[in-house]
Amino acid sequence: MLGELEMVKAMLGGERRVVVLTGAGVSAESGVPTFRGRDGLWRHHRVEDLARPDAFAAHPERVWEFYNWRRRLVGGCEPNPAHMALAAMDRQIPNFLLITQNVDGLHTRAGSLRVLEMHGSLWQVRCTVCTHAREDFSELPDMPECPVCGHLLRPGVVWFGEPLTPGVLRLAVAEIGKADVFLSVGTSGLVQPAASFCQLAKEHGAVTVEINREPTPNTGLMDFALHGPAGDILPELAVGLGE
Ligand code: OAD
Repeated sequence: MLGELEMVKAMLGGERRVVVLTGAGVSAESGVPTFRGRDGLWRHHRVEDLARPDAFAAHPERVWEFYNWRRRLVGGCEPNPAHMALAAMDRQIPNFLLITQNVDGLHTRAGSLRVLEMHGSLWQVRCTVCTHAREDFSELPDMPECPVCGHLLRPGVVWFGEPLTPGVLRLAVAEIGKADVFLSVGTSGLVQPAASFCQLAKEHGAVTVEINREPTPNTGLMDFALHGPAGDILPELAVGLGE
Protein backbone atom coordinates (compact mmCIF):
# COMPACT_ATOMS: atom_id res chain seq x y z
CA MET A 1 0.00 0.00 0.00
CA LEU A 2 1.24 3.49 -0.86
CA GLY A 3 2.11 5.87 1.95
CA GLU A 4 0.82 9.46 1.97
CA LEU A 5 4.03 10.79 0.46
CA GLU A 6 3.92 8.36 -2.47
CA MET A 7 0.24 9.20 -3.05
CA VAL A 8 0.99 12.93 -3.16
CA LYS A 9 3.94 12.30 -5.44
CA ALA A 10 1.75 10.31 -7.84
CA MET A 11 -0.63 13.27 -8.02
CA LEU A 12 2.11 15.65 -9.17
CA GLY A 13 2.65 13.73 -12.39
CA GLY A 14 0.96 13.96 -15.80
CA GLU A 15 -0.72 17.16 -16.91
CA ARG A 16 -2.03 18.09 -13.49
CA ARG A 17 -2.06 21.79 -12.60
CA VAL A 18 -0.07 22.33 -9.44
CA VAL A 19 -0.11 25.49 -7.31
CA VAL A 20 2.24 25.79 -4.33
CA LEU A 21 1.90 28.37 -1.56
CA THR A 22 4.99 28.91 0.59
CA GLY A 23 5.64 30.78 3.82
CA ALA A 24 8.54 31.50 6.13
CA GLY A 25 8.96 27.82 7.10
CA VAL A 26 10.38 27.03 3.66
CA SER A 27 13.33 29.36 4.39
CA ALA A 28 13.82 28.30 8.03
CA GLU A 29 16.44 25.69 7.10
CA SER A 30 18.39 28.43 5.30
CA GLY A 31 18.67 30.27 8.61
CA VAL A 32 15.98 32.89 7.94
CA PRO A 33 13.89 33.21 11.11
CA THR A 34 10.17 32.52 10.79
CA PHE A 35 7.63 35.03 12.09
CA ARG A 36 5.87 32.81 14.58
CA GLY A 37 6.59 29.68 16.58
CA ARG A 38 9.85 28.56 18.10
CA ASP A 39 12.79 30.90 17.38
CA GLY A 40 10.36 33.20 15.60
CA LEU A 41 11.49 36.59 14.44
CA TRP A 42 8.17 37.70 15.89
CA ARG A 43 9.45 37.40 19.44
CA HIS A 44 12.58 39.47 19.00
CA HIS A 45 11.05 42.12 16.77
CA ARG A 46 7.36 42.81 16.69
CA VAL A 47 6.88 42.64 12.94
CA GLU A 48 3.27 43.76 13.34
CA ASP A 49 4.55 47.01 14.87
CA LEU A 50 7.25 47.65 12.27
CA ALA A 51 5.84 46.36 8.99
CA ARG A 52 3.12 48.98 8.68
CA PRO A 53 2.73 52.34 6.96
CA ASP A 54 1.96 54.30 10.15
CA ALA A 55 5.14 52.95 11.81
CA PHE A 56 7.15 54.07 8.76
CA ALA A 57 5.52 57.51 8.84
CA ALA A 58 6.29 57.92 12.55
CA HIS A 59 9.75 56.28 12.74
CA PRO A 60 11.18 55.71 9.25
CA GLU A 61 14.72 55.26 10.61
CA ARG A 62 13.59 52.45 12.94
CA VAL A 63 11.69 50.68 10.16
CA TRP A 64 14.64 51.03 7.76
CA GLU A 65 16.99 49.72 10.45
CA PHE A 66 14.78 46.64 10.75
CA TYR A 67 14.67 46.09 6.97
CA ASN A 68 18.40 46.67 6.54
CA TRP A 69 18.99 44.09 9.28
CA ARG A 70 16.77 41.61 7.40
CA ARG A 71 18.48 42.37 4.08
CA ARG A 72 21.90 41.68 5.64
CA LEU A 73 20.64 38.51 7.34
CA VAL A 74 19.00 37.08 4.21
CA GLY A 75 21.94 38.19 2.05
CA GLY A 76 24.11 35.79 4.08
CA CYS A 77 21.72 32.84 3.58
CA GLU A 78 21.58 30.29 0.77
CA PRO A 79 18.62 28.43 -0.73
CA ASN A 80 18.06 25.07 1.00
CA PRO A 81 16.89 21.68 -0.33
CA ALA A 82 13.22 22.77 -0.04
CA HIS A 83 13.82 25.73 -2.39
CA MET A 84 15.83 23.50 -4.74
CA ALA A 85 13.07 20.87 -4.83
CA LEU A 86 10.46 23.51 -5.69
CA ALA A 87 12.73 24.82 -8.47
CA ALA A 88 12.98 21.23 -9.77
CA MET A 89 9.17 20.96 -9.73
CA ASP A 90 8.99 24.22 -11.70
CA ARG A 91 11.19 22.64 -14.40
CA GLN A 92 9.39 19.30 -14.43
CA ILE A 93 5.70 20.13 -14.01
CA PRO A 94 4.20 21.78 -17.13
CA ASN A 95 1.35 23.57 -15.33
CA PHE A 96 2.94 25.00 -12.22
CA LEU A 97 2.85 28.19 -10.16
CA LEU A 98 4.64 29.02 -6.94
CA ILE A 99 2.97 31.70 -4.83
CA THR A 100 5.15 32.87 -1.96
CA GLN A 101 4.51 35.10 1.01
CA ASN A 102 8.27 35.32 1.50
CA VAL A 103 10.18 38.48 0.63
CA ASP A 104 13.65 36.90 0.84
CA GLY A 105 14.08 36.08 -2.88
CA LEU A 106 15.42 32.59 -2.12
CA HIS A 107 13.00 30.83 -4.50
CA THR A 108 14.34 32.84 -7.43
CA ARG A 109 17.93 32.29 -6.31
CA ALA A 110 17.21 28.54 -6.25
CA GLY A 111 16.13 28.73 -9.90
CA SER A 112 12.33 28.94 -9.68
CA LEU A 113 10.96 30.92 -12.64
CA ARG A 114 7.19 30.89 -12.19
CA VAL A 115 7.07 32.72 -8.84
CA LEU A 116 4.48 35.19 -7.58
CA GLU A 117 5.97 37.16 -4.67
CA MET A 118 2.69 38.29 -3.15
CA HIS A 119 4.28 40.35 -0.35
CA GLY A 120 6.93 41.94 -2.58
CA SER A 121 10.67 41.63 -2.08
CA LEU A 122 13.33 42.81 0.36
CA TRP A 123 15.47 43.51 -2.72
CA GLN A 124 13.05 46.00 -4.25
CA VAL A 125 13.06 49.63 -3.13
CA ARG A 126 10.83 52.43 -4.30
CA CYS A 127 10.37 56.14 -3.75
CA THR A 128 7.71 57.32 -1.30
CA VAL A 129 6.95 60.29 -3.59
CA CYS A 130 7.88 59.75 -7.26
CA THR A 131 7.71 56.66 -9.48
CA HIS A 132 11.34 55.59 -9.01
CA ALA A 133 11.64 51.87 -8.19
CA ARG A 134 14.57 49.50 -8.53
CA GLU A 135 16.04 46.16 -7.57
CA ASP A 136 18.95 46.78 -5.20
CA PHE A 137 21.17 44.18 -3.52
CA SER A 138 23.65 46.71 -2.09
CA GLU A 139 24.13 47.81 1.52
CA LEU A 140 21.72 50.74 1.95
CA PRO A 141 22.11 53.71 4.31
CA ASP A 142 19.78 54.05 7.31
CA MET A 143 17.53 56.54 5.48
CA PRO A 144 18.09 55.91 1.74
CA GLU A 145 17.14 58.76 -0.59
CA CYS A 146 15.61 58.63 -4.03
CA PRO A 147 18.25 59.41 -6.69
CA VAL A 148 15.58 61.13 -8.82
CA CYS A 149 13.73 63.45 -6.43
CA GLY A 150 15.67 63.18 -3.15
CA HIS A 151 12.74 61.99 -1.05
CA LEU A 152 12.86 58.95 1.18
CA LEU A 153 12.88 55.45 -0.34
CA ARG A 154 10.86 52.60 1.19
CA PRO A 155 11.20 48.82 1.03
CA GLY A 156 9.27 47.26 -1.86
CA VAL A 157 7.25 45.00 0.41
CA VAL A 158 3.57 44.88 1.30
CA TRP A 159 2.93 46.06 4.84
CA PHE A 160 0.06 45.21 7.17
CA GLY A 161 -2.94 47.30 6.19
CA GLU A 162 -1.74 47.78 2.59
CA PRO A 163 -3.38 46.16 -0.42
CA LEU A 164 -1.43 43.67 -2.49
CA THR A 165 0.07 44.93 -5.76
CA PRO A 166 -2.80 45.20 -8.28
CA GLY A 167 -3.26 42.01 -10.25
CA VAL A 168 -1.38 39.77 -7.81
CA LEU A 169 -4.40 38.58 -5.87
CA ARG A 170 -6.48 38.23 -9.06
CA LEU A 171 -3.80 36.03 -10.63
CA ALA A 172 -3.35 33.93 -7.49
CA VAL A 173 -7.10 33.35 -7.14
CA ALA A 174 -7.48 32.50 -10.84
CA GLU A 175 -4.64 29.97 -10.74
CA ILE A 176 -5.83 28.39 -7.49
CA GLY A 177 -9.32 28.10 -9.04
CA LYS A 178 -7.85 25.96 -11.86
CA ALA A 179 -5.48 23.88 -9.72
CA ASP A 180 -5.73 20.10 -9.49
CA VAL A 181 -3.27 19.97 -6.60
CA PHE A 182 -2.62 22.68 -4.01
CA LEU A 183 0.43 22.40 -1.75
CA SER A 184 0.77 24.61 1.31
CA VAL A 185 4.36 24.62 2.57
CA GLY A 186 5.82 26.17 5.73
CA THR A 187 3.07 28.66 6.49
CA SER A 188 1.14 29.04 9.72
CA GLY A 189 -2.03 29.96 7.78
CA LEU A 190 -2.72 32.95 10.01
CA VAL A 191 -2.22 35.93 7.68
CA GLN A 192 -4.82 36.82 5.05
CA PRO A 193 -5.38 36.58 2.17
CA ALA A 194 -3.00 33.59 1.83
CA ALA A 195 -4.65 31.91 4.82
CA SER A 196 -7.82 31.45 2.73
CA PHE A 197 -6.13 29.97 -0.33
CA CYS A 198 -6.48 26.40 0.90
CA GLN A 199 -10.24 26.80 1.43
CA LEU A 200 -10.49 28.31 -2.05
CA ALA A 201 -8.53 25.45 -3.62
CA LYS A 202 -10.75 22.92 -1.90
CA GLU A 203 -13.96 24.65 -3.02
CA HIS A 204 -12.68 24.39 -6.60
CA GLY A 205 -11.99 20.69 -6.27
CA ALA A 206 -8.21 20.63 -5.82
CA VAL A 207 -6.50 17.98 -3.75
CA THR A 208 -4.99 19.86 -0.80
CA VAL A 209 -1.67 19.00 0.81
CA GLU A 210 0.07 20.55 3.80
CA ILE A 211 3.81 20.25 4.32
CA ASN A 212 4.71 21.85 7.64
CA ARG A 213 6.77 21.19 10.73
CA GLU A 214 3.58 21.09 12.81
CA PRO A 215 -0.22 21.14 12.35
CA THR A 216 -1.80 24.51 11.50
CA PRO A 217 -5.36 25.95 11.62
CA ASN A 218 -5.72 24.75 8.00
CA THR A 219 -4.72 21.13 8.69
CA GLY A 220 -8.39 20.07 8.93
CA LEU A 221 -8.94 21.23 5.33
CA MET A 222 -6.11 19.11 3.99
CA ASP A 223 -6.53 15.84 2.11
CA PHE A 224 -2.93 15.03 3.03
CA ALA A 225 -0.78 16.43 5.83
CA LEU A 226 2.93 15.67 5.76
CA HIS A 227 4.43 16.96 8.97
CA GLY A 228 8.20 17.42 9.15
CA PRO A 229 10.93 19.69 7.79
CA ALA A 230 10.19 20.98 4.27
CA GLY A 231 13.85 20.38 3.40
CA ASP A 232 13.34 16.64 3.95
CA ILE A 233 9.85 16.19 2.48
CA LEU A 234 9.99 18.32 -0.70
CA PRO A 235 13.13 16.66 -2.14
CA GLU A 236 11.42 13.27 -1.70
CA LEU A 237 8.40 14.56 -3.62
CA ALA A 238 10.49 16.11 -6.39
CA VAL A 239 12.88 13.23 -7.05
CA GLY A 240 12.13 11.44 -10.31
CA LEU A 241 9.28 13.76 -11.31
CA GLY A 242 9.01 14.17 -15.06
CA GLU A 243 10.82 10.88 -15.81
P1 OAD B 1 4.96 31.98 10.13
O1 OAD B 1 6.20 32.29 10.89
O2 OAD B 1 3.67 32.50 10.65
O3 OAD B 1 4.80 30.39 10.01
C1 OAD B 1 5.87 29.57 9.62
C2 OAD B 1 5.38 28.14 9.65
O4 OAD B 1 6.44 27.33 9.16
C3 OAD B 1 5.02 27.61 11.04
O5 OAD B 1 3.78 26.92 10.97
C4 OAD B 1 6.15 26.62 11.35
O6 OAD B 1 5.71 25.49 12.10
C5 OAD B 1 6.57 26.18 9.97
N1 OAD B 1 7.97 25.73 9.86
C6 OAD B 1 9.05 26.19 10.52
N2 OAD B 1 10.16 25.56 10.13
C7 OAD B 1 9.79 24.68 9.18
C8 OAD B 1 10.47 23.73 8.36
N3 OAD B 1 11.79 23.57 8.44
N4 OAD B 1 9.74 23.00 7.49
C9 OAD B 1 8.41 23.15 7.40
N5 OAD B 1 7.70 24.03 8.14
C10 OAD B 1 8.38 24.79 9.01
O7 OAD B 1 5.22 32.45 8.62
P2 OAD B 1 4.17 32.76 7.45
O8 OAD B 1 3.02 31.82 7.50
O9 OAD B 1 4.96 32.82 6.21
O10 OAD B 1 3.74 39.02 6.26
O11 OAD B 1 3.68 34.20 7.83
C11 OAD B 1 2.81 34.84 6.95
C12 OAD B 1 3.08 36.33 6.93
O12 OAD B 1 3.12 36.84 8.26
C13 OAD B 1 4.45 36.72 6.38
O13 OAD B 1 4.50 36.77 4.97
C14 OAD B 1 4.62 38.10 6.94
C15 OAD B 1 4.15 37.85 8.37
O14 OAD B 1 3.59 38.90 8.98
C16 OAD B 1 4.06 40.33 6.17
O15 OAD B 1 5.10 40.79 6.62
C17 OAD B 1 3.03 41.16 5.48
